[in-house]
Amino acid sequence: MARIIGALTSSHIPSIGNAISNGKQDDPYWKPFFDGYEPVLRWLDEQKPDVAVVLYNDHGLNFFLNNLPTFAVGAAQEYVTKDEGWGLPVFPPYRGYPEMSWHLIESLVEQEFDIAMCQEMAMDHAFINPMRLFWPGQNPPKIKTIPVAINTVQFPLPRPSRCYALGQAIGRAVESWPGDEKVVVIGTGGMSHQLDGERAGFINKKFDEMCMETLLNDPQRLAKYSSLELVREAGAQGAEIIMWLAARGALHGRVSKIHSSYHIPISNTAAGVLALANH
Ligand code: DHB
Ligand code: FE
Repeated sequence: MARIIGALTSSHIPSIGNAISNGKQDDPYWKPFFDGYEPVLRWLDEQKPDVAVVLYNDHGLNFFLNNLPTFAVGAAQEYVTKDEGWGLPVFPPYRGYPEMSWHLIESLVEQEFDIAMCQEMAMDHAFINPMRLFWPGQNPPKIKTIPVAINTVQFPLPRPSRCYALGQAIGRAVESWPGDEKVVVIGTGGMSHQLDGERAGFINKKFDEMCMETLLNDPQRLAKYSSLELVREAGAQGAEIIMWLAARGALHGRVSKIHSSYHIPISNTAAGVLALANH
């Protein structure tokens, strides 16, 4: 049986990609942000997971407003990377794991999640930047990946409770896979931010701290928010915290914190990383 060893959640702000490419990790602006990942990198180095299920949001690269699935699961041999306009570097494709993807898809549909299934999917900053943060210098890393896209672009967004339930269903699906792989679930996006409109630059540190605490100890509490309440509390794009909630949902065991770090600002955004172990 495959084992979920933990959930890693991280911001995916595009400028992180350029900071990595330009070697800015020790620059005074960036150092506190990158230092926040060190304990997580040590944990990854010890644990050496085989598969990453990556819950992220596509920002118009695969799916545009004319054709936008709520939940989409990748089932490709590999995932090409593309820059949707941030001047980010493009890397060789990430490794897929179609056999396990199809198992997830079958299990999710059986659990009444009528997801879109994608045999082709290109990855944007929301997938690539967290992967570069967690596997630095490996473009791409050896780990097999299964991307799961959650709509946070066009309303109506899926309810936070539905995203949490999706994560729980992914947890059950992974744990019914007959292989003995170690699986890490990654959730990307957040934390509080709003990129446009009257509240551009909006950040809510208190809410972000509550999210970090609640994701560890009481995820159901965060799952009770509506999407609009998340927008009010975290900003229009801060609603991306639903990917963190979905990743947390996949942890069925006793959960402990490996590490968390929170830093304001990167770009216009509150940047955070939270790593949870599943026992
Ligand atoms: C920024 C943050 C995002 O989540 C995103 O998708 C694009 C830009 C930013 O803070 O610049
Ligand atoms: Fe985003």
